[in-house]
Amino acid sequence: MAYEHIVPKVAGRAGIVTLARGKLNPLSKDLLTELTDALVKYDQNPEIRCMVIFGGDTVYCAGADIKEMVESAFADAFAADSFGAVSDAIQSCRKPIITGVLGPALGGGCELAMMCDIIIAGESAQFGQPEINLGIIAGIGGTQRLTRAIGKAKSMEMHLTGRRMTATEAEQNGLVSRVVADDEVKSEVMKLADLITRQPPLAVIALKEAINRAEEVSLREGLLHERRLFHSLFATNDRAEGMQAFVEKRTAVFKGH
Ligand code: COA
Repeated sequence: MAYEHIVPKVAGRAGIVTLARGKLNPLSKDLLTELTDALVKYDQNPEIRCMVIFGGDTVYCAGADIKEMVESAFADAFAADSFGAVSDAIQSCRKPIITGVLGPALGGGCELAMMCDIIIAGESAQFGQPEINLGIIAGIGGTQRLTRAIGKAKSMEMHLTGRRMTATEAEQNGLVSRVVADDEVKSEVMKLADLITRQPPLAVIALKEAINRAEEVSLREGLLHERRLFHSLFATNDRAEGMQAFVEKRTAVFKGH
């Protein structure tokens, strides 16, 4: 697929996608199709071990393309299951996705960041779900993911008022893993991605699977699933290499099998 609204780039074993649709990156259908295509290809590529999404430098993403939706009727949105395919495809990626947020991440922009596994925020980052001001509600996971991340009361307030949360507030409430200076966001994200690409790849995939279960199943089921994944990793050469390297006081070299 030829990409017009995103720029894909591979750095080492990290697959990067940078949104590139003007200054605000409104999420048009075409942009979302390209983004999904690039991420799914990275996810299927055995050379890639971690993925990264960057938005704009001053605005991460202004959310769903309102101008594209302005004439939409219920039947159009429902028949096309608007945002369903992209949401499912990104959610199904097995490798970790890290994102770095600079400036406002609003509506679908906030939801895109929340689809990622780790958010590093610059000091200028802002998060908001302002769809209520347009007569709609979030439709790419905002009511679910923001609530799981920051709790019901705060999520309810954010969605009902459309107010924006600062980077500091987002960190204090568990939405982002770290806040760094704006000019360090990209290098911090890439440092993290590089570190993850050097971890044992099968254990990385198992970890993402296990941690995601924490939000979806009962504690008992989650604990059992974690334990079975833990047991299964004893079948890998990387487990033998990791433990042997520890005993021999050397750096382990993980090969993904
Ligand atoms: N979809 C389509 N167009 C958008 C857009 C969106 N989500 N967000 C902004 N635009 C357009 C504006 O209509 C404007 O178009 P124009 O040049 O034809 O007038 C242009 O982008 C610039 O917007 P502006 O608001 O002047 O830019 P800004 O830098 O002052 O503010 C934002 C940037 C992102 C803070 C602001 O545009 C905004 O709040 N956007 C809406 C966010 C939103 O409601 N998202 C939820 C969508 S469901």
